[in-house]
Amino acid sequence: SHYLTLYSSFNHLEDEIFNQYGVKVHIVRGNSDKDETVKAEMGNVTGELLEQSLYDKASVSVTGGSTMAKVSESLHPLDKDILFTPARGGLGENVVFQANTICASMANRTGGSYKVLYVPDQVSESSYETLLKEPAVIEVLDAIRRSDFIIHGIGDALKMAERRKSSDEVLSQLKHHHAVGEAFGYYFNAKGEVVHRVKTIGLQLEDLATKTNIFAVAGGASKADAIKAYLEIAPKNTILVTDESAAKAIINAE
Ligand code: BG6
Repeated sequence: SHYLTLYSSFNHLEDEIFNQYGVKVHIVRGNSDKDETVKAEMGNVTGELLEQSLYDKASVSVTGGSTMAKVSESLHPLDKDILFTPARGGLGENVVFQANTICASMANRTGGSYKVLYVPDQVSESSYETLLKEPAVIEVLDAIRRSDFIIHGIGDALKMAERRKSSDEVLSQLKHHHAVGEAFGYYFNAKGEVVHRVKTIGLQLEDLATKTNIFAVAGGASKADAIKAYLEIAPKNTILVTDESAAKAIINAE
């Protein structure tokens, strides 16, 4: 495919990350912190890999974020019946970057279907328990857990907490525990230990191991520590799509 020839110069870096973490890697040229087209190219590579591996009646669960939005923009009409679900409910994102929005747009672009998870960000313990008993919620949760493919972003811990307008208490807890990375609403320290998690329903970290493929998409030098932390615990069925500047920072920090 076109990007393989274009980016073959990163084979060595891809191999180094694979040897270190046991995760397959695709690297695009540049730094997505500084150049939006690099983020779009990570989206294209992910879209291409996903479209190659999808089969009829497959289901895909996605998280939110600006990188996932680029993945959705890269998708094409497919001759397959694909179901898209949001990986987790209510994580406090602006509506355009919410998993619900991204999965609806992926379904629209591919001609597939989608399910939405209606879970607010801040729920009391009792309403949370009640929500979990709602048949509509149970049905979506079931589809999420059964999903064959996962596509997710990785964020810098403190940036994500601020973007979600987390409380001062949560922010200081994250700082206290040296949180560096975030994925699926889980916050990790540099060793990949979970130091905090957003209380919401949907995919749990332990659900990942059984999936056909997991695409983790994140780039930019500013995310290097976050990606590195996530790689410490990333399931081996993960395929990381990242950019040159993140990949170099991950390897140089060894
Ligand atoms: C959020 C996800 O929507 O996007 C996070 O819930 C993820 O898990 C984040 O880390 C990544 O955002 P972006 O904009 O950096 O791609």
